[in-house]
Amino acid sequence: MTGGPDRPVAVLVGFMGAGKSTVGRILADKLGVDFVDTDAEIVTRTGQSIPEIFTGAGPTRFRQIECDVVTDVLENHRGVVALGGGAVTTEAVRDALDGHRVVHLKIGAEDGFSRVSGSDRPLLAAGDPATRYRELLTERAETYSGVATIEVDAADGDAQDVADVIIAAIARELVPERTT
Ligand code: S3P
Repeated sequence: MTGGPDRPVAVLVGFMGAGKSTVGRILADKLGVDFVDTDAEIVTRTGQSIPEIFTGAGPTRFRQIECDVVTDVLENHRGVVALGGGAVTTEAVRDALDGHRVVHLKIGAEDGFSRVSGSDRPLLAAGDPATRYRELLTERAETYSGVATIEVDAADGDAQDVADVIIAAIARELVPERTT
């Protein structure tokens, strides 16, 4: 059994454009719990945008701040949590996810890139963004699957549908055998 009364109901992971924030907010509403997006939490706590942190303090410092925020949120939040797409590349974050109900929103390169192209994502700022997106997605695919306890197709229907699929998966986990 993953999750539990002293843990978030679900922690959403996945690549940029998978819809973690949108689906997470809908999922939290449907379940009647609070939602925390760790990227938004980083912005609130530092008073800087994510691109500002990347260009100012740098990517390594961003990952440290992200790791601190994620571990704090995992310890103290009981609703739905969405992590930034690269959070799971930090070993301490992967360790902190152990025992949690981690939902991987799986997205393909074409669907995902169409959702983020033109955004200010710092990791897509250099070179050809579509190529960079595909490379990073391939590089991280196993890591997302490795930390996940539930995997859903993020392009299968709209965000409401994806949230419903997650709820059904959680229900199956909690009540594995339906008798009627
Ligand atoms: C990142 C994903 C972003 C944000 C930052 C780094 C990544 O979050 O945390 O730009 O490394 O994949 P989203 O997944 O919400 O876009």
